[in-house]
Amino acid sequence: MVSKNDLAILGGKPCIQTSFIDYNSIRSSDVKEALKVLDSGKLSRFVGTSGDFFLGGESVRSMEASWSSYFGTGFAVSCNSWTSGLWLAIGALGLEPGSEIIVSSWTMAATATTILHWNLIPVFADIDRFTFNLDPIDVESRITKRTRAIVSPDIFGQSADIESLKKICQKYDLKLVSDTAQSPGAKRNGYFAGTESDIGGYSLNYHKHIHSGEGGVAVTNSPELAQRMQLLRNHGEVIVGQNPELENQFGILGMNMRLGEIESAIAQNQLSSLNVAIESRRKAAQIFSSLIADFVGISLPALLPGNDHVYYVYGLKFNVEEIGVSRSTLVSALKAEGVPAIQEGYQNIHTLPLFHKELTYRGNKLPYSLLPRKRRRELAATQLTVAERLHQSEFVGINWCAKKYSDSEVRLLGRAFEKVWSNLNLLRKI
Ligand SMILES: Cc1ncc(COP(=O)(O)O)c(C=O)c1O
Repeated sequence: MVSKNDLAILGGKPCIQTSFIDYNSIRSSDVKEALKVLDSGKLSRFVGTSGDFFLGGESVRSMEASWSSYFGTGFAVSCNSWTSGLWLAIGALGLEPGSEIIVSSWTMAATATTILHWNLIPVFADIDRFTFNLDPIDVESRITKRTRAIVSPDIFGQSADIESLKKICQKYDLKLVSDTAQSPGAKRNGYFAGTESDIGGYSLNYHKHIHSGEGGVAVTNSPELAQRMQLLRNHGEVIVGQNPELENQFGILGMNMRLGEIESAIAQNQLSSLNVAIESRRKAAQIFSSLIADFVGISLPALLPGNDHVYYVYGLKFNVEEIGVSRSTLVSALKAEGVPAIQEGYQNIHTLPLFHKELTYRGNKLPYSLLPRKRRRELAATQLTVAERLHQSEFVGINWCAKKYSDSEVRLLGRAFEKVWSNLNLLRKI
Protein backbone atom coordinates (compact mmCIF):
# COMPACT_ATOMS: atom_id res chain seq x y z
CA MET A 1 0.00 0.00 0.00
CA VAL A 2 1.53 3.31 -1.13
CA SER A 3 0.83 6.33 1.11
CA LYS A 4 0.93 9.97 0.07
CA ASN A 5 4.05 10.45 2.14
CA ASP A 6 5.94 7.77 0.25
CA LEU A 7 8.61 8.78 -2.17
CA ALA A 8 7.28 9.40 -5.67
CA ILE A 9 10.03 7.21 -7.08
CA LEU A 10 8.46 4.35 -5.08
CA GLY A 11 4.94 5.09 -6.29
CA GLY A 12 3.93 7.85 -3.82
CA LYS A 13 2.45 11.22 -4.63
CA PRO A 14 5.00 13.75 -5.94
CA CYS A 15 5.70 16.50 -3.46
CA ILE A 16 5.49 19.18 -6.17
CA GLN A 17 2.16 19.19 -7.96
CA THR A 18 2.55 22.44 -9.89
CA SER A 19 4.56 22.81 -13.05
CA PHE A 20 6.85 25.80 -12.79
CA ILE A 21 6.56 28.57 -15.33
CA ASP A 22 9.42 28.77 -17.83
CA TYR A 23 11.62 31.78 -17.19
CA ASN A 24 10.91 34.49 -19.75
CA SER A 25 12.91 37.70 -19.72
CA ILE A 26 11.06 39.25 -22.67
CA ARG A 27 8.75 42.11 -21.68
CA SER A 28 6.31 44.31 -23.57
CA SER A 29 8.99 47.02 -23.87
CA ASP A 30 11.22 44.53 -25.72
CA VAL A 31 8.36 43.81 -28.11
CA LYS A 32 7.91 47.55 -28.67
CA GLU A 33 11.60 48.01 -29.47
CA ALA A 34 11.56 45.08 -31.90
CA LEU A 35 8.43 46.43 -33.60
CA LYS A 36 10.04 49.83 -34.07
CA VAL A 37 12.81 48.20 -36.07
CA LEU A 38 10.35 46.08 -38.03
CA ASP A 39 8.34 49.18 -38.87
CA SER A 40 11.46 50.86 -40.18
CA GLY A 41 11.90 47.99 -42.65
CA LYS A 42 15.66 48.10 -42.04
CA LEU A 43 16.44 44.89 -40.25
CA SER A 44 20.19 45.11 -40.80
CA ARG A 45 22.22 48.10 -41.86
CA PHE A 46 25.64 46.50 -42.09
CA VAL A 47 27.57 46.95 -45.30
CA GLY A 48 30.65 44.86 -45.98
CA THR A 49 32.50 47.62 -47.77
CA SER A 50 33.71 51.08 -46.93
CA GLY A 51 30.92 53.35 -45.78
CA ASP A 52 29.16 54.64 -42.72
CA PHE A 53 27.49 51.35 -42.04
CA PHE A 54 30.54 49.14 -41.90
CA LEU A 55 30.03 49.10 -38.13
CA GLY A 56 26.30 48.40 -38.35
CA GLY A 57 23.08 50.34 -38.08
CA GLU A 58 21.61 52.52 -35.40
CA SER A 59 20.42 49.71 -33.12
CA VAL A 60 23.73 47.84 -33.30
CA ARG A 61 25.76 50.92 -32.43
CA SER A 62 23.40 52.13 -29.77
CA MET A 63 23.30 48.70 -28.13
CA GLU A 64 27.09 48.49 -28.17
CA ALA A 65 27.32 51.93 -26.55
CA SER A 66 24.93 50.82 -23.79
CA TRP A 67 26.87 47.63 -23.16
CA SER A 68 30.25 49.31 -22.95
CA SER A 69 28.79 51.95 -20.66
CA TYR A 70 27.09 49.38 -18.39
CA PHE A 71 30.14 47.13 -18.14
CA GLY A 72 32.57 50.04 -17.96
CA THR A 73 34.74 48.98 -20.89
CA GLY A 74 36.19 51.08 -23.69
CA PHE A 75 34.48 49.02 -26.38
CA ALA A 76 31.70 46.52 -26.96
CA VAL A 77 31.51 44.56 -30.21
CA SER A 78 28.25 42.75 -30.87
CA CYS A 79 28.00 39.60 -32.97
CA ASN A 80 25.46 36.96 -33.88
CA SER A 81 26.28 34.55 -31.03
CA TRP A 82 28.85 34.34 -28.27
CA THR A 83 30.39 31.42 -30.13
CA SER A 84 31.03 33.96 -32.86
CA GLY A 85 32.31 36.31 -30.15
CA LEU A 86 34.86 33.74 -29.00
CA TRP A 87 35.89 33.23 -32.61
CA LEU A 88 36.35 36.98 -33.04
CA ALA A 89 38.24 37.30 -29.75
CA ILE A 90 40.66 34.50 -30.49
CA GLY A 91 41.13 35.64 -34.07
CA ALA A 92 41.80 39.19 -32.87
CA LEU A 93 44.73 37.96 -30.75
CA GLY A 94 46.52 37.24 -34.04
CA LEU A 95 48.39 34.16 -32.82
CA GLU A 96 50.64 32.04 -34.95
CA PRO A 97 49.00 28.75 -36.03
CA GLY A 98 50.06 25.89 -33.79
CA SER A 99 50.27 28.10 -30.71
CA GLU A 100 48.71 26.66 -27.57
CA ILE A 101 45.85 28.18 -25.63
CA ILE A 102 45.05 26.88 -22.18
CA VAL A 103 41.34 26.38 -21.66
CA SER A 104 39.08 24.87 -19.02
CA SER A 105 37.93 21.28 -19.44
CA TRP A 106 34.65 22.12 -17.63
CA THR A 107 32.75 24.36 -19.99
CA MET A 108 30.66 24.44 -23.12
CA ALA A 109 32.26 23.11 -26.31
CA ALA A 110 32.57 26.51 -28.04
CA THR A 111 35.11 27.70 -25.46
CA ALA A 112 37.58 25.25 -27.01
CA THR A 113 36.33 24.61 -30.54
CA THR A 114 36.73 28.27 -31.48
CA ILE A 115 40.42 27.84 -30.69
CA LEU A 116 40.65 24.99 -33.20
CA HIS A 117 38.97 27.15 -35.85
CA TRP A 118 42.05 29.36 -35.82
CA ASN A 119 44.46 26.43 -36.17
CA LEU A 120 45.46 26.86 -32.57
CA ILE A 121 45.74 24.10 -30.01
CA PRO A 122 43.49 23.97 -26.96
CA VAL A 123 45.37 22.62 -23.95
CA PHE A 124 42.84 21.53 -21.36
CA ALA A 125 43.38 22.45 -17.74
CA ASP A 126 41.66 21.26 -14.61
CA ILE A 127 39.28 23.20 -12.40
CA ASP A 128 38.97 24.19 -8.79
CA ARG A 129 36.76 21.67 -7.00
CA PHE A 130 34.80 24.37 -5.13
CA THR A 131 34.14 27.08 -7.73
CA PHE A 132 34.33 24.91 -10.90
CA ASN A 133 36.44 27.62 -12.58
CA LEU A 134 40.00 27.19 -13.86
CA ASP A 135 42.53 26.19 -11.21
CA PRO A 136 45.40 28.68 -11.68
CA ILE A 137 47.98 26.22 -10.31
CA ASP A 138 46.96 23.61 -12.84
CA VAL A 139 46.96 26.25 -15.58
CA GLU A 140 50.54 27.26 -14.80
CA SER A 141 51.67 23.64 -14.85
CA ARG A 142 50.52 23.33 -18.46
CA ILE A 143 52.44 26.27 -19.87
CA THR A 144 54.97 25.39 -22.56
CA LYS A 145 57.10 27.54 -24.81
CA ARG A 146 54.23 27.46 -27.32
CA THR A 147 51.58 28.81 -24.90
CA ARG A 148 50.23 32.19 -25.95
CA ALA A 149 46.88 32.67 -24.21
CA ILE A 150 44.37 31.44 -21.65
CA VAL A 151 40.63 31.23 -22.23
CA SER A 152 38.90 31.25 -18.88
CA PRO A 153 35.17 30.64 -18.50
CA ASP A 154 33.25 32.29 -15.66
CA ILE A 155 31.14 29.25 -15.19
CA PHE A 156 27.60 28.94 -13.76
CA GLY A 157 27.43 32.57 -12.64
CA GLN A 158 30.65 33.52 -10.90
CA SER A 159 33.97 34.97 -11.95
CA ALA A 160 37.12 32.91 -12.25
CA ASP A 161 40.12 33.78 -10.06
CA ILE A 162 41.04 36.51 -12.47
CA GLU A 163 43.91 38.09 -10.47
CA SER A 164 45.78 34.78 -10.29
CA LEU A 165 45.24 34.20 -14.01
CA LYS A 166 46.37 37.73 -14.82
CA LYS A 167 49.54 37.23 -12.78
CA ILE A 168 50.28 34.09 -14.81
CA CYS A 169 49.63 36.02 -18.03
CA GLN A 170 52.00 38.78 -16.96
CA LYS A 171 54.70 36.29 -15.96
CA TYR A 172 54.59 34.37 -19.25
CA ASP A 173 53.43 37.19 -21.55
CA LEU A 174 50.09 35.59 -22.39
CA LYS A 175 46.75 37.03 -23.47
CA LEU A 176 43.64 36.41 -21.38
CA VAL A 177 40.15 35.90 -22.79
CA SER A 178 37.19 35.53 -20.45
CA ASP A 179 34.23 33.46 -21.58
CA THR A 180 31.56 35.12 -19.46
CA ALA A 181 28.70 33.64 -21.52
CA GLN A 182 26.89 32.43 -18.41
CA SER A 183 27.68 35.24 -15.99
CA PRO A 184 26.76 38.72 -17.24
CA GLY A 185 26.43 41.01 -14.23
CA ALA A 186 28.55 38.86 -11.90
CA LYS A 187 31.21 40.86 -10.10
CA ARG A 188 34.65 40.16 -8.71
CA ASN A 189 36.01 42.68 -6.21
CA GLY A 190 33.51 45.19 -7.56
CA TYR A 191 34.37 44.73 -11.26
CA PHE A 192 32.15 42.99 -13.76
CA ALA A 193 33.28 39.51 -14.73
CA GLY A 194 34.62 39.58 -18.26
CA THR A 195 35.94 43.13 -18.07
CA GLU A 196 39.34 42.48 -16.48
CA SER A 197 40.73 40.37 -19.32
CA ASP A 198 42.10 41.43 -22.70
CA ILE A 199 38.72 40.44 -24.11
CA GLY A 200 35.60 39.15 -22.37
CA GLY A 201 32.08 38.63 -23.51
CA TYR A 202 28.54 37.48 -22.98
CA SER A 203 26.03 35.23 -24.66
CA LEU A 204 22.60 36.48 -25.61
CA ASN A 205 21.14 33.08 -26.37
CA TYR A 206 17.68 32.09 -25.23
CA HIS A 207 18.81 30.26 -22.10
CA LYS A 208 20.55 33.14 -20.40
CA HIS A 209 19.47 35.75 -17.79
CA ILE A 210 18.76 38.17 -20.61
CA HIS A 211 18.64 37.33 -24.29
CA SER A 212 17.81 38.34 -27.83
CA GLY A 213 17.21 34.86 -29.20
CA GLU A 214 20.77 34.55 -30.42
CA GLY A 215 23.62 37.01 -30.06
CA GLY A 216 26.80 37.86 -28.22
CA VAL A 217 28.75 40.90 -27.09
CA ALA A 218 32.53 41.05 -26.72
CA VAL A 219 34.01 43.72 -24.43
CA THR A 220 37.54 45.06 -24.34
CA ASN A 221 39.51 48.14 -23.35
CA SER A 222 41.92 47.76 -26.25
CA PRO A 223 41.15 49.84 -29.37
CA GLU A 224 43.33 47.51 -31.46
CA LEU A 225 41.51 44.37 -30.34
CA ALA A 226 38.13 46.06 -30.79
CA GLN A 227 39.02 47.07 -34.33
CA ARG A 228 40.28 43.64 -35.22
CA MET A 229 37.03 42.12 -33.96
CA GLN A 230 35.01 44.66 -35.94
CA LEU A 231 37.00 43.76 -39.05
CA LEU A 232 36.71 40.03 -38.51
CA ARG A 233 32.96 40.32 -37.89
CA ASN A 234 32.35 41.97 -41.24
CA HIS A 235 34.35 40.14 -43.91
CA GLY A 236 37.63 41.73 -42.87
CA GLU A 237 37.51 44.29 -45.60
CA VAL A 238 37.56 47.81 -44.30
CA ILE A 239 36.86 49.85 -41.26
CA VAL A 240 35.63 53.35 -41.29
CA GLY A 241 35.95 56.46 -39.24
CA GLN A 242 38.18 55.20 -36.45
CA ASN A 243 41.62 54.68 -37.81
CA PRO A 244 42.43 55.96 -41.30
CA GLU A 245 45.36 53.56 -41.50
CA LEU A 246 42.91 50.70 -41.56
CA GLU A 247 40.86 52.10 -44.42
CA ASN A 248 40.80 49.72 -47.34
CA GLN A 249 42.86 47.22 -45.47
CA PHE A 250 42.51 43.79 -47.01
CA GLY A 251 44.07 40.50 -46.06
CA ILE A 252 42.34 39.74 -42.79
CA LEU A 253 40.30 36.56 -42.92
CA GLY A 254 36.87 37.77 -41.92
CA MET A 255 33.39 36.29 -41.65
CA ASN A 256 29.86 37.53 -41.45
CA MET A 257 29.09 37.47 -37.75
CA ARG A 258 26.90 40.55 -37.69
CA LEU A 259 23.96 40.92 -35.34
CA GLY A 260 20.67 42.13 -36.83
CA GLU A 261 18.94 45.36 -35.87
CA ILE A 262 15.98 43.62 -34.20
CA GLU A 263 18.19 41.48 -31.96
CA SER A 264 20.31 44.52 -31.13
CA ALA A 265 17.27 46.58 -30.16
CA ILE A 266 16.03 43.73 -27.95
CA ALA A 267 19.47 43.21 -26.42
CA GLN A 268 19.79 46.89 -25.56
CA ASN A 269 16.42 46.92 -23.87
CA GLN A 270 17.07 43.61 -22.11
CA LEU A 271 20.19 45.06 -20.54
CA SER A 272 17.97 47.36 -18.50
CA SER A 273 16.41 44.28 -16.88
CA LEU A 274 19.66 42.47 -16.08
CA ASN A 275 19.86 43.69 -12.48
CA VAL A 276 16.30 42.61 -11.74
CA ALA A 277 16.88 39.23 -13.39
CA ILE A 278 20.00 38.63 -11.33
CA GLU A 279 18.40 39.74 -8.09
CA SER A 280 15.49 37.34 -8.50
CA ARG A 281 17.89 34.43 -9.18
CA ARG A 282 20.03 35.39 -6.24
CA LYS A 283 17.11 35.66 -3.84
CA ALA A 284 15.76 32.29 -4.95
CA ALA A 285 19.21 30.74 -4.51
CA GLN A 286 19.60 32.21 -1.02
CA ILE A 287 16.24 30.85 0.13
CA PHE A 288 16.97 27.46 -1.41
CA SER A 289 20.44 27.29 0.17
CA SER A 290 19.00 28.05 3.59
CA LEU A 291 16.54 25.18 3.19
CA ILE A 292 18.99 22.46 2.20
CA ALA A 293 22.18 23.64 3.94
CA ASP A 294 22.04 21.11 6.77
CA PHE A 295 21.23 18.01 4.75
CA VAL A 296 23.78 15.26 5.03
CA GLY A 297 26.29 15.00 2.18
CA ILE A 298 25.29 18.19 0.33
CA SER A 299 27.77 20.98 -0.47
CA LEU A 300 26.18 24.25 -1.52
CA PRO A 301 27.56 26.46 -4.32
CA ALA A 302 30.86 27.91 -3.05
CA LEU A 303 31.87 31.50 -3.64
CA LEU A 304 35.44 32.57 -4.22
CA PRO A 305 36.02 35.42 -1.69
CA GLY A 306 35.44 38.73 -3.47
CA ASN A 307 32.88 37.24 -5.84
CA ASP A 308 29.18 37.54 -6.09
CA HIS A 309 27.14 34.97 -7.98
CA VAL A 310 24.41 35.39 -10.56
CA TYR A 311 23.26 31.75 -10.46
CA TYR A 312 22.93 30.67 -14.05
CA VAL A 313 23.31 27.15 -12.71
CA TYR A 314 22.85 26.26 -9.05
CA GLY A 315 25.74 23.80 -8.68
CA LEU A 316 25.70 21.29 -5.84
CA LYS A 317 28.00 18.51 -4.81
CA PHE A 318 26.66 15.27 -3.35
CA ASN A 319 28.99 13.23 -1.18
CA VAL A 320 27.44 9.87 -1.99
CA GLU A 321 29.58 7.98 0.52
CA GLU A 322 28.17 10.09 3.32
CA ILE A 323 24.65 9.91 1.94
CA GLY A 324 24.83 6.20 1.22
CA VAL A 325 22.74 6.47 -1.96
CA SER A 326 23.99 6.74 -5.53
CA ARG A 327 23.83 10.12 -7.23
CA SER A 328 21.63 8.80 -10.02
CA THR A 329 19.09 7.39 -7.52
CA LEU A 330 19.02 10.69 -5.65
CA VAL A 331 18.52 12.71 -8.82
CA SER A 332 15.82 10.30 -10.06
CA ALA A 333 14.05 10.57 -6.70
CA LEU A 334 14.20 14.40 -6.85
CA LYS A 335 12.92 14.42 -10.43
CA ALA A 336 10.07 12.10 -9.43
CA GLU A 337 9.13 14.59 -6.68
CA GLY A 338 8.88 17.26 -9.39
CA VAL A 339 12.23 19.08 -9.16
CA PRO A 340 12.75 20.51 -12.66
CA ALA A 341 15.88 21.10 -14.72
CA ILE A 342 18.17 19.02 -12.52
CA GLN A 343 21.06 17.09 -14.02
CA GLU A 344 23.98 14.93 -13.01
CA GLY A 345 27.42 16.08 -14.02
CA TYR A 346 28.53 18.70 -16.51
CA GLN A 347 30.34 18.57 -19.78
CA ASN A 348 33.99 17.56 -19.67
CA ILE A 349 34.83 18.88 -23.09
CA HIS A 350 38.19 17.15 -23.35
CA THR A 351 36.25 13.87 -23.51
CA LEU A 352 34.16 14.94 -26.53
CA PRO A 353 34.68 12.58 -29.46
CA LEU A 354 36.11 15.49 -31.45
CA PHE A 355 39.07 15.66 -29.11
CA HIS A 356 39.75 12.14 -28.07
CA LYS A 357 38.84 10.36 -31.32
CA GLU A 358 39.89 12.83 -33.97
CA LEU A 359 42.64 14.80 -32.32
CA THR A 360 44.64 12.33 -30.26
CA TYR A 361 43.55 13.66 -26.89
CA ARG A 362 43.40 10.55 -24.78
CA GLY A 363 41.09 9.23 -22.07
CA ASN A 364 41.11 11.43 -19.05
CA LYS A 365 44.25 13.26 -20.02
CA LEU A 366 43.82 16.96 -20.37
CA PRO A 367 46.85 18.15 -22.30
CA TYR A 368 46.81 18.05 -26.04
CA SER A 369 49.28 15.34 -26.51
CA LEU A 370 51.37 14.19 -29.40
CA LEU A 371 53.20 12.11 -26.85
CA PRO A 372 54.29 8.58 -27.77
CA ARG A 373 51.49 6.04 -27.41
CA LYS A 374 53.16 4.34 -24.45
CA ARG A 375 53.36 7.56 -22.48
CA ARG A 376 49.74 8.37 -23.28
CA ARG A 377 48.70 4.94 -21.96
CA GLU A 378 50.62 5.54 -18.77
CA LEU A 379 48.93 8.90 -18.30
CA ALA A 380 45.51 7.46 -19.03
CA ALA A 381 45.95 4.95 -16.22
CA THR A 382 46.39 7.64 -13.59
CA GLN A 383 43.70 9.11 -11.42
CA LEU A 384 40.76 11.20 -12.50
CA THR A 385 40.99 14.95 -12.77
CA VAL A 386 38.83 17.17 -10.56
CA ALA A 387 36.53 17.89 -13.52
CA GLU A 388 36.15 14.19 -14.26
CA ARG A 389 35.45 13.24 -10.66
CA LEU A 390 32.85 15.97 -10.33
CA HIS A 391 31.22 14.92 -13.58
CA GLN A 392 31.27 11.22 -12.86
CA SER A 393 30.20 11.12 -9.27
CA GLU A 394 29.71 14.36 -7.33
CA PHE A 395 28.22 17.25 -9.28
CA VAL A 396 24.49 17.96 -9.54
CA GLY A 397 23.34 21.12 -11.31
CA ILE A 398 19.96 22.80 -11.30
CA ASN A 399 19.49 25.02 -14.31
CA TRP A 400 18.47 28.04 -12.27
CA CYS A 401 17.60 30.11 -15.34
CA ALA A 402 15.16 27.60 -16.77
CA LYS A 403 12.25 28.47 -14.48
CA LYS A 404 10.89 31.51 -12.76
CA TYR A 405 10.67 30.63 -9.09
CA SER A 406 8.57 32.60 -6.62
CA ASP A 407 9.61 32.38 -2.97
CA SER A 408 6.90 29.80 -2.27
CA GLU A 409 7.99 27.74 -5.27
CA VAL A 410 11.57 27.70 -4.01
CA ARG A 411 10.19 26.40 -0.72
CA LEU A 412 8.54 23.60 -2.70
CA LEU A 413 11.93 22.68 -4.13
CA GLY A 414 13.28 22.64 -0.59
CA ARG A 415 10.43 20.41 0.52
CA ALA A 416 11.16 17.93 -2.27
CA PHE A 417 14.78 17.70 -1.10
CA GLU A 418 13.62 17.34 2.49
CA LYS A 419 11.28 14.48 1.55
CA VAL A 420 14.02 12.64 -0.27
CA TRP A 421 16.58 13.25 2.46
CA SER A 422 14.22 12.02 5.18
CA ASN A 423 13.74 8.77 3.29
CA LEU A 424 17.33 7.94 2.49
CA ASN A 425 16.95 4.61 4.29
CA LEU A 426 14.37 3.55 1.66
CA LEU A 427 16.58 4.67 -1.19
CA ARG A 428 19.51 2.71 0.21
CA LYS A 429 17.50 -0.45 -0.48
CA ILE A 430 16.91 0.30 -4.16
C1 LIG B 1 30.45 28.83 -21.28
C2 LIG B 1 29.83 29.10 -22.61
N1 LIG B 1 30.60 29.51 -23.63
C3 LIG B 1 30.11 29.77 -24.84
C4 LIG B 1 28.77 29.63 -25.11
C5 LIG B 1 28.26 29.91 -26.48
O1 LIG B 1 27.34 30.96 -26.51
P1 LIG B 1 26.27 31.07 -27.71
O2 LIG B 1 25.21 30.04 -27.45
O3 LIG B 1 25.74 32.46 -27.59
O4 LIG B 1 26.98 30.83 -28.98
C6 LIG B 1 27.90 29.21 -24.09
C7 LIG B 1 26.47 29.03 -24.34
O5 LIG B 1 25.70 28.59 -23.54
C8 LIG B 1 28.45 28.92 -22.82
O6 LIG B 1 27.68 28.50 -21.80
